[in-house]
Amino acid sequence: NDLYAVVGNPISHSKSPRIHSLFARQTGEQLEYTAIQAPENDFSATVTGFFERGGKGLNVTVPFKEQAWKIADRRTERAELAGASNTLYKDSKGLLTADNTDGKGLVTDLKVNHGIPLAGKRILMLGAGGAVRGVLGPILAEEPAVLVIANRTVAKAEGLVTLFEAVAGQTHLNACGFEQPAEAFDIIINGTSASLQGDLPPVSANVIGADTVVYDMMYSLQTTTFNQWALDQGAIRVFDGLGMLVEQAAESFRVWRSVSPDTRPVIDELRNE
Ligand code: ATR
Repeated sequence: NDLYAVVGNPISHSKSPRIHSLFARQTGEQLEYTAIQAPENDFSATVTGFFERGGKGLNVTVPFKEQAWKIADRRTERAELAGASNTLYKDSKGLLTADNTDGKGLVTDLKVNHGIPLAGKRILMLGAGGAVRGVLGPILAEEPAVLVIANRTVAKAEGLVTLFEAVAGQTHLNACGFEQPAEAFDIIINGTSASLQGDLPPVSANVIGADTVVYDMMYSLQTTTFNQWALDQGAIRVFDGLGMLVEQAAESFRVWRSVSPDTRPVIDELRNE
């Protein structure tokens, strides 16, 4: 069996082994997918050792995505822009290749699973950390009309605007603080890690209109703190990041195996677990 794994620290709660095992069973692909906890200071050796043992591909999670990007011999275009990698493999020449499937996962979950196209929409992105940088390229490729990046530290949002200006095309791309947006958006995406501290990004309730759709990149058994706030303000629909998690995994599976798993039954199964 071909060997794959997810590397992180901690790693015991990762759903990736479960997701990829379900994909493998469904598609009949002969593979084994495990979880590896890399020491904080030894990610590179963990990766090298895995591929030396004949490993075919790695997913990378917290806190190693930036390191994965750095140590690669080459990067896909979308990984280059993301500044981080969640998917590693050896290319046909044996070069360690860094890809990033997070943005594709988010866009597919919104567009395909939830029927929310991004083209022509006014989007508010909350946060400007690694998770947000990882998804901006694929979002801009959908050609929204407006993309406002709001962050607690405004300079970081401004940095992302500078970085992504060249791929923004016709999209109006802007940065600001949380207090500034005062009008309703079509789509609001929470890419902050505020909820990990039980916090809400302090945005005006005016960003939620009667037709506003909200997507929290986090997921949890209950409605996330941010999504509950959005529902209380009248958001029409709210989604959490479970679909994104499964879709980024499906895109990695495609990159490695050239086979497209059916994500719907896997999302349903995880939701019920
Ligand atoms: P990640 O990989 O999750 O993106 P990160 O790069 O550390 O992690 O970024 C965390 C993001 O959540 C940032 O946008 C951060 O805001 P700052 O750039 O101002 O630090 C945001 N964030 C974290 N805790 C927050 C909180 N309590 N309230 C609002 N924003 C928060």
